[in-house]
Amino acid sequence: MRLAFFGEERESVFDFPEWPQFDNSEILGLERVLNSRRWFAGFLGGDEKSEVGQFEREFAEYNGSKHTIAVSNGEAALIIALAASGVGAGDEVIMPAWTFVATASAAMHLGAVPVFADVTPDNLCLDPNDVLRKITDKTRAVITVHYGGKLGNIDQLSEIAHKKNLILIEDACHAHGSVYRDKKAGTIGHAGCFSFQESKTMTSGEGGLLTTDDDYIAQMARSFRSNGRKVDSPGYLHYRLGWNYRLTEFQAAILRAQLVRLDEQVKRRTDNSRLLTSLIDGIPGFIPMVDPEGTEQNSCYLYPLRLDLDYFGITRELADRYAKKRGISYNHSLVPSSMLIEDILRAEGIPCSSVYIPLNRSPLFLDTEEKTKGLGTFERYIGVPQYETALPVSDKAFEEVIDLPLKVFMGEAGTIQSVARVFEKISFSVDQVKAYLKELSIVP
Ligand SMILES: Cc1ncc(COP(=O)(O)O)c(C=O)c1O
Repeated sequence: MRLAFFGEERESVFDFPEWPQFDNSEILGLERVLNSRRWFAGFLGGDEKSEVGQFEREFAEYNGSKHTIAVSNGEAALIIALAASGVGAGDEVIMPAWTFVATASAAMHLGAVPVFADVTPDNLCLDPNDVLRKITDKTRAVITVHYGGKLGNIDQLSEIAHKKNLILIEDACHAHGSVYRDKKAGTIGHAGCFSFQESKTMTSGEGGLLTTDDDYIAQMARSFRSNGRKVDSPGYLHYRLGWNYRLTEFQAAILRAQLVRLDEQVKRRTDNSRLLTSLIDGIPGFIPMVDPEGTEQNSCYLYPLRLDLDYFGITRELADRYAKKRGISYNHSLVPSSMLIEDILRAEGIPCSSVYIPLNRSPLFLDTEEKTKGLGTFERYIGVPQYETALPVSDKAFEEVIDLPLKVFMGEAGTIQSVARVFEKISFSVDQVKAYLKELSIVP
């Protein structure tokens, strides 16, 4: 049983669905907006009659959130959530480095300093103990990222925020429709932030949304989204420094159609991801991550799993050699040790990737020469902060965690069984992997 990576035929042919998905309802929605000649949701970003306003109401109902404020993207949702919660210049915001840069840049655009805390190995979500260690008298907020769709450690994080009087923001950009102990993502912290960028579990190409049960945060967020305007006031009067972060009517029409499909899709991915976890569990070389206890639905935007690099005989040095062989010209320490196994999986027809380079490795947060050439407004106001670089769990995850995309989980249980058989095949073929690595090790 030779691996497809070495030129053999694949054993299974996978036909994962295309993403993003649409049907006639998106087309009708777009036509509706075109014909209405109302393409703009209004100066305040969405009244009751607008598509945006109707989408906000439908999402609020779906999510069990008192208020929803649709915005132009997930980063805008984070900026507005922080600003509306009173976070500003000089405040510290504790967050994981295991995230997309927008979690941190949102704080920085307000002059607030991201303070990186580590994640826990079981779910790669923010580690409550490390958060406790990093609280100072400047800490104002904590952003937790529901990585891949899992609401990891959320009870402890809520408790810390409550006890220490901190704002808790859920970066739920991966977690539309995830449910934890009867609560949807975005309903637990002071605010939740969603992205509708193309890869996300519901999408209008770009887009975002903020959820909150807090009347004041909602009111401020609406004003910030629309250049600092106020309800019942002339459109050219501006009360605070805001942004134009509005969503268009076209995007809202698409999102209304996408929302109708969301719950069925999330249920399917929850079942399929659990099935895969149960099938992979015990296969040498692969260590799946179980959903946090209390998870009722997992949006499964990403399905992370850990590789046992020792089992395959992959060392950092061999990973560097493989990166060189692959023709990768950038710094090889930014190429994860998992790359060879990812290539082996892809050769067998399983899409996968290493999604994050933890932010503590990004030049933006390092004292590099390049950095000093491109200092932004943030550093001019604040100076260059000393960012946390020692995050052992995030660093280890960078080397050994791979992610399967949501489309793997959109089909039938039979497909998941075939996916699991590929993991089994790779595990049984460990000698082929080792022989290949041995050859690599003697290349000068
Ligand atoms: C965890 C996380 N936060 C924030 C964002 C930002 O969302 P957007 O790209 O819509 O600005 C993303 C998008 O990938 C994300 O994955």
